[in-house]
Amino acid sequence: MHFHTKAMLSSIIFGLVSLWFFLLVHGDGFTSINYGEALNKSLLYYEAQRSGKLPLQQRVQWRANSAVSDGSEAGVDLEGGYYDAGDNVKFGFPLAFTITMLSWSTIEFQSQLKDNNQLTYALEAIQWGTDYLIKAHPEPHVLFGQVGDGDSDHACWQRPEDMTTPRPAYKIDEDNPGADLAAETAAAFAAASLALKPTNETYASLLLTHAKQLFEFASDHGGLYQNSITKAAKFYSSSGYEDELLWASIWLFLATDEESYLDALEGSSGGTRSRFSWDDKYLGAQVLVSKLIFEGALDQDIYGHFKIDGEQFICNCLQKGKNNVIKTPGGLLWFLSYNLQYVTTATFIATTYSEYLTTFSTTFDCPDGTIQPNDLLAFAKSQVDYILGSNPRSTSYMVGFGSTYPNQVHHRGASIVSININPAPVSCQGGYDLYFNKDAPNPNVLDGAVVSGPDENDNYSDLRSNYEQAEPTTVTPAPLVGVLAKLALSFK
Ligand SMILES: *[C@@H]1O[C@H](CO)[C@@H](O)[C@H](O)[C@H]1NC(C)=O
Ligand SMILES: *[C@@H]1O[C@H](CO)[C@@H](O)[C@H](O)[C@H]1NC(C)=O
Ligand SMILES: *[C@@H]1O[C@H](CO)[C@@H](O)[C@H](O)[C@H]1NC(C)=O
Repeated sequence: MHFHTKAMLSSIIFGLVSLWFFLLVHGDGFTSINYGEALNKSLLYYEAQRSGKLPLQQRVQWRANSAVSDGSEAGVDLEGGYYDAGDNVKFGFPLAFTITMLSWSTIEFQSQLKDNNQLTYALEAIQWGTDYLIKAHPEPHVLFGQVGDGDSDHACWQRPEDMTTPRPAYKIDEDNPGADLAAETAAAFAAASLALKPTNETYASLLLTHAKQLFEFASDHGGLYQNSITKAAKFYSSSGYEDELLWASIWLFLATDEESYLDALEGSSGGTRSRFSWDDKYLGAQVLVSKLIFEGALDQDIYGHFKIDGEQFICNCLQKGKNNVIKTPGGLLWFLSYNLQYVTTATFIATTYSEYLTTFSTTFDCPDGTIQPNDLLAFAKSQVDYILGSNPRSTSYMVGFGSTYPNQVHHRGASIVSININPAPVSCQGGYDLYFNKDAPNPNVLDGAVVSGPDENDNYSDLRSNYEQAEPTTVTPAPLVGVLAKLALSFK
């Protein structure tokens, strides 16, 4: 009896040891990542970034109404929209790109978002942006492109709810144009119109009217917006506006079916890009043209160079191209500092292209091999897995996801006690003394935010002062919304 039990015990121990060893070796494949949870959180993040009067159904409860008088100084109502990052400025150029990418995510992955019960939240995130953009576009050739001043805002560490900093509003118009800002906002309106059409056709057609007016404004009045809104120059300088004109024209063609919008395709395709970002939309345009070629709406013989340029970018990401993107030792694509925003756009492009290849039963060739839809999805998964914690530091770079994630996110609202818990105003400098300089986790978990992330050696320092790595921005998770919806269904 005794002997028998002992034998059983040792065989159980042997079993446990082998299981432990198996887990050690196969760790990655064994711990499955909950993409659905990451998706849900990514959309919560946009609620935490809301400016203005919050709706009754607001789920992020540590936030409250803020900046409700935005625009009053300029005699316009600019209440609403999103704070850009860890500060309290509303920067129009990255905001418009965020709305375009949230919309593209929703257009391509509508059914997957629905199956994850997140379509409503995605549409709300888009509409929170477009409701504001409508206010920011009071006349056909007038667009407000910034509220708040980066210099005075960044000199204070305050909750948005008790900001004491100036809230100037800056605009572009015919005398002070900005074709990049106007065209990106046109793209956002057109893409959002497509995304929201199934739920409200009246609203969608209103958005399309704004899109057409802004596109015309951008086409007739060239120039870089930071020459007009000089306060944006230090933070979000645009390097050119031809890419926005091209990208906006394709979104307008998709939303209207009017052939005249295809005239922009006579210009440059931009060649093979090194990234896709708030400043550079050529790759997005190339991929949309490829979709139209797959669908037979555009002639491959005439527009095929757009498709080839886009595919070469993807080849470079998959390490099968002529100019492969550098990878960190841990396997993350490394584009540039503030890196994760470029990784999320690249994974979106790969995931979307994988859908196109599947739908049209096709493949494409890279210098180093033929690409199947599953190669693209596996690549996207590898990058998302890294972001969500499969990396050398075993840290998730999405806040609130997994067991280890950045605790000292560089974010004013998240790092200061909620106004709903302690309503005593936090002053401009008081915020630095009481909260910024405190070596402790943020009191509010900014669920779903994605920080700029690790450096090219996979290193990351979880310090509030480390704004280069620890600050999240609204542009970063927008492409992930679609990718996560897809991965949640493909890898349960
Ligand atoms: C995400 O949220 C939806 C809707 O609230 C819910 O039905 C679903 O279970 C959540 N998914 C996960 C993985 O938490
Ligand atoms: C649809 O959009 C219009 C225009 O913004 C709005 O007046 C209307 O209330 C919306 N309808 C619904 C059902 O939300
Ligand atoms: C960064 O990572 C590299 C490689 O793992 C390591 O040698 C180096 O010491 C790290 N640097 C810092 C500052 O942690």
